[in-house]
Amino acid sequence: MLLNKLHVALPNLNIEENKPLSPLCTLHVGGKAEFFVAPSSIEEMRILYNFALSENCDIYVLGGGSNVIFPDGIVKGIVISTENLNSFSWRTEITADIDSGFKLPLIMKELREKNLAGMEFAAGIPGTLGGAIMGNAGAGGHGICELLDEVITLESDGEIKTWPINAINYSYRYCSLSDSKRIIISARMTFRKSNPKDKDVLENFLLRRGSQPHAFGNAGCTFKNPEGYSAGKLLDDCGCKNLCVGDAVVSEQHANFILNRGHAKSSDVIKLMKICIQKVFDSTGIKLEPEIKILGE
Ligand code: EPU
Repeated sequence: MLLNKLHVALPNLNIEENKPLSPLCTLHVGGKAEFFVAPSSIEEMRILYNFALSENCDIYVLGGGSNVIFPDGIVKGIVISTENLNSFSWRTEITADIDSGFKLPLIMKELREKNLAGMEFAAGIPGTLGGAIMGNAGAGGHGICELLDEVITLESDGEIKTWPINAINYSYRYCSLSDSKRIIISARMTFRKSNPKDKDVLENFLLRRGSQPHAFGNAGCTFKNPEGYSAGKLLDDCGCKNLCVGDAVVSEQHANFILNRGHAKSSDVIKLMKICIQKVFDSTGIKLEPEIKILGE
């Protein structure tokens, strides 16, 4: 029924049914999307979003899948991938318009080619620009939002809106655009000419990233650092390393990483996160907040 209506609303769009989501998420867990679409223009995205709103249908926006998990089983509604919204164009020597589905490592590559800097802190962070903006992804006290001039979004009333940076609030792993349901379409970002020190800064960030676990599927840091503390150290001190539920295990290398050592389910990861939260709370009174987004719960 819904599928027929979708075909009518978007006759040229490829609509996939029962699409496995685990290959699209770096933790490699989660079930299947009832419907999965990857619009390749703002117009397609707008029609699709308006359709979902009018049908009262749940939608989930998927970028690079590096910071999210879907539940096991069928995820009812439409999973909208931004993978085909991926253009990048220079407006000036140092300012670029970048689609939300463009990957952060590719932005870094563009900057290297033009001898530009400002995004060293993002070295080694996978994922797409849209996802990175929603969570103000970053490291070392920096976040992606500090490089934004403006963001174009598709709002929950189906309209396209431009947000100048002074209309957006952001802080550690937080961006006010994530407060309500909307889709990030693209952003304008300004960088700067690089100087000799940037290379050292970049190498330092790469070194820290290099010390994090890579061998298994993971979704980066599981919890946000509570103010004044390191989540990794708290988890380590509370004996969370190597705790496991099914094939989901807390990394021995860095306690803020949960790894999928084979066939972990989404429910295993969620149970393990709850155990970790409880352990740290019981020992320290600090309640860890997930950085990984659990969609469709
Ligand atoms: N530590 C331990 N045990 C552990 C892990 C860490 O004692 O198991 C200690 C470390 O020795 C260090 C301190 O905790 O003294 C902080 O650890 P680390 O340097 O690894 O940094 P982090 O605060 O855990 C943050 C970001 C990372 C980012 C790194 C490097 C958060 C939640 N994490 O990690 O971001 O890569 O800095 O810049 O803000 C992510 O967001 O997905 C992520 C991995």
